[in-house]
Parts: sequence; structure tokens; C-alpha cells
Amino acid sequence: MSTILAIETSCDETSVAIVRDRHVLGNVVSSQIAIHQQYGGVVPEVASRQHVETVNGAIAQAFQQAQVHWTDIDGVAATCAPGLVGALLVGLTAGKTLAMLHQKPFLGVHHLEGHIYAAYLSEPDLQPPFLCLLVSGGHTSLIYVKDCGSYEILGQTRDDAAGEAFDKVARLLNLGYPGGPAIDRLSQQGNPHAFALPEGQVSLPQGGYHPYDSSFSGLKTAVLRLTQKLQQSEPELPVADIAASFQLTVAKALTKRAIACALDYGLETIVVGGGVAANSALRHQLQAAAVKHNMRVLFPPLKFCTDNAAMIACAAAEHFNRGHRSQLTSGAQSRMAISDVMKLYER
Ligand code: KG4
Ligand code: ZN
Repeated sequence: MSTILAIETSCDETSVAIVRDRHVLGNVVSSQIAIHQQYGGVVPEVASRQHVETVNGAIAQAFQQAQVHWTDIDGVAATCAPGLVGALLVGLTAGKTLAMLHQKPFLGVHHLEGHIYAAYLSEPDLQPPFLCLLVSGGHTSLIYVKDCGSYEILGQTRDDAAGEAFDKVARLLNLGYPGGPAIDRLSQQGNPHAFALPEGQVSLPQGGYHPYDSSFSGLKTAVLRLTQKLQQSEPELPVADIAASFQLTVAKALTKRAIACALDYGLETIVVGGGVAANSALRHQLQAAAVKHNMRVLFPPLKFCTDNAAMIACAAAEHFNRGHRSQLTSGAQSRMAISDVMKLYER
């Protein structure tokens, strides 16, 4: 059993958590959404500066929530890849400094491995192998989870991530940022069958389509064209119908690929992670398909789906228990495949 303090600053959330294996003792999340909203998206320099201002207070608050002291902490972890480099550096530098100061082992954590570990926080008995559908602002991946540190990417997006598609479509419908929650909310009042939109398929050189890869840029363009056409013919744009039709198209595309992938690889559990896991249409479509195929689908609570340090600490705790440690010289990386996670550790 190990108690880990983790810091997550890969994008626009400053988060610090203290976790004992799969049990959250404290989890502080300070969102910058209100700050970035005025620019219509995340501004990297503003995010970094905000992390610098918030991180110390969040560390103190996490200790207060968890009711533990430095003597109870076994290791310090920080997200080191992938993400906005300037933002990552703030949490990483804070983590490495604390590890040095308090003479604790340090662990750099891959952000996507954290998203996978979010599922363990609400299902501590969950065991690999399982399939993870990771759908966030930056990623749309189907990951075969074999063991801690052992991942195979089976599917990904060729262009926009699912969350990015929600954000871009919301922007063109003037719904603000972040787009996912806005589209989800408005879709409740719309007809999801009002407009037929292309789900976006990825062609293979030998013919046919990739069964697990996604492409959302064509769908985004289709929504743009539809909007332009309707603006010419309709007195008022049926925004709710467009939002609901777009949302259902994305949910169906993701569900189709996740189920096909789980079936092909003989995996009976699908874990969903990332901000788009909150989407009501995706939840509905995937649950229904899973029941039909005798599969189990796990949607962690939303507070663990969106960026948080508890999931980072949980992943770090498992690596810590296996004797994995990172060097204090390790740096931040904007890109890194999840299949390379073990490069972060010396054994
Ligand atoms: O995982 P996350 O918090 O941050 C990243 O690591 O990217 O995901 C944020 C993304 C945003 O694109 C946001 O629009 C989307 O998740 N999102 C949603 C919903 N809630 C958040 N997308 C669709 N439906 C939602 N209810
Ligand atoms: Zn994330």
C-alpha cells in the first residue's frame, strides 16, 4: 500500500491529489475554464501562468482535505506527458522540487494512463485486461489495457479528437466554450434524427474502412455546410436539432468502433474515460450496445473523467508498488504514445 501526492497541470485544470492506492484521500481541482472562456479556447501562456499562481494553494488544500502530513507520503508524482509543455512544466517542476526537498521518490506520469486509472477509483476491484475508450479534448483512442504500463493502441482519430469536434461545432453554432456540455444540454431539446450527418470513416489503402479509427473533421465540415444552407432557407436556425443530430452521430460512431474492437479482441469490459465520457448520448448508446453483446461498460463519475490529479496519483501508486521510479532529470513532453509509458521509469 502506498500514499502518493500527485500534481496535474497538463492543460487548463490545476489539480493536486493525495491517494492511497485506489482510495482518494484528497482531490483539489481548480478549473481555469472561466478564464479561457473569453478567448473561446485554452490559451497556453495564460494556462501556465494560472498554474503557477494556483499550484501552491492547491497542494496545501490537498493536505488539509486528506488530513495527512509529509511523513505519510511515500512518493510524489506529476503528469509529464502529453500536454501543453509550458503547463506541464509547472506541475512537473513543483513535483520534482517537493520530491527533492522531502526526500521522496519521484514518478512522472503519462496523462492518458491517468485517464485509464480513473476507472479504478470507483471500481477498485477492476482487473485488466479490458478495453478503454478514451475520449477527451485531445484524444480519441481505443486502448487495449493488458497490465499496468502495458498498453496497445488499437484505434485513434486521424484528425480531430471527439471533444475537439464538440468544441468546434459548438463554436460554429455560437454555443461557447467548452462545447461538449453546451451541445449535450441543448440536445435534450432537439430531435437527434432531424438531420443525417456522415459519421466519418477512415479508408484503408487496400479498400474498405478501418474498423477502429475515427475521423471527425468531415462531420464538422458537414455541420458547417448544413448550417450555411439552413441559414439561407430558414428564418431561425434549428440549433437544438443540429446539436442533437451531431451528438448522436458522434455517439454512434464511437459506440460502433468500441464494440467491434472489444468483440474482435475478446474483451468483456469497456472502460470509458475523458471529458466526453460525460456525454449523455454516448452513455446511452454504449450502454445499450453493451447489454446486447453481454459486455460490461464502466463510466467513472464525471469528476474523475475530466482532468484531475487523483487519477494521476492512482496510476503512480500502482507503478510505485511495482518499484518503478522516474529520474529527477526527466522533462515534459508535448507528445508521447501511451505504448511508451515504461520509458518514463527506471527499474
Ligand atoms: O478530459 P478532458 O477534461 O480534458 C482533456 O484531457 O482534453 O476533456 C475535455 C473535453 C472538452 O472537449 C469538452 O467539450 C468535452 O471534453 N466534454 C464533453 C462533455 N463534457 C465535456 N463532450 C461531450 N459531452 C459532454 N457532456
Ligand atoms: Zn485529460
